[in-house]
Amino acid sequence: MGYQQIEASVRSCYATWGETYYENYYGGQAPYPPVHRDILKNVLYEAQAITVLDAGCGPASFLRELFGTGMDLYGFDLTPEMVAEAQRVFKQNGLQPERVWQGSVFDQKAFRPPWRRRKKLFDAVVCCGVFPHIPKEADALVLANLRSAVKKDGLVAVEARNQLFALFTLNRYSHDFFLRELVKQDELEQQAEEYVHAVREACNDLARHFRMDLPPLRKGMQGEPGYDEVLSRTHNPLVLREQFLSAGFRDIRVLFYHYHCLPPMFESRIPEFFRSQSLAMEDPSDWRGYFMASAFIMTGRKT
Ligand SMILES: C[S@@+](CC[C@H](N)C(=O)[O-])C[C@H]1O[C@@H](n2cnc3c(N)ncnc32)[C@H](O)[C@@H]1O
Repeated sequence: MGYQQIEASVRSCYATWGETYYENYYGGQAPYPPVHRDILKNVLYEAQAITVLDAGCGPASFLRELFGTGMDLYGFDLTPEMVAEAQRVFKQNGLQPERVWQGSVFDQKAFRPPWRRRKKLFDAVVCCGVFPHIPKEADALVLANLRSAVKKDGLVAVEARNQLFALFTLNRYSHDFFLRELVKQDELEQQAEEYVHAVREACNDLARHFRMDLPPLRKGMQGEPGYDEVLSRTHNPLVLREQFLSAGFRDIRVLFYHYHCLPPMFESRIPEFFRSQSLAMEDPSDWRGYFMASAFIMTGRKT
């Protein structure tokens, strides 16, 4: 699928979410509190960032958390309905709505306000919830675009879904991770013709060890493709760290969040206990995050 096709499907997935996204994920009824918000805020405070760009800002869901902090805020997003909502929120809070514009992280030009003739460099760029929608071959391009938008020593913070969490979930994601990333079934089958059948059978049998019916697919609300029906990748933090290094970042940190005290398939048995114990585990630097946290934020400074 080309970038334009991916963008079109992602745009239609988010088109119905403009007005409800903030309440659904940051509001009181959110399935899990937005714990990444404080991690990101701390990262920005530590970096003493003043000019901040949110690439893929949605309905200014994170940016509105920074209103009143004295930071100089900007954002862009691929989805017009998200941009409209973010502009409304900016205006409502006495900020210029032009500080939010439409653009894609694939396009380096999108990283500067369209009304500025000269390139503006930011102290920090954050990018949350966008990397799942980037094809593997474009990770490096997007990292380069993020890097090009900050000043020297500037901070880039990228949020991603943790691929290694699949080793804890014991479901369809785990099976996929075993076959594609660890075993590499295709390559193994090519090693010896006489064992192709046995390898295939072993890989099929492996499915019996996982809950292949979980997790349920997230569908769209009004016929549009749902989150799991558009490209929504996970990232291996060990691999992304290498990509940060190659892209020209230093002081790289990985900060885990959204811990699970047990594999998620057990949550419905003890929902309140599950949530409180998971929240109690939240520690961005705990090594268990590599497996028990479903997401992470990777930060780096421009070299
Ligand atoms: C999960 S939401 C996150 C919104 C916000 N960043 C937050 O953390 O609350 C993902 C957002 O990324 C946007 N997005 C997806 N692909 C994008 C791209 N190629 N360029 C810019 N924004 C993109 C979507 O339109 C959507 O608003």
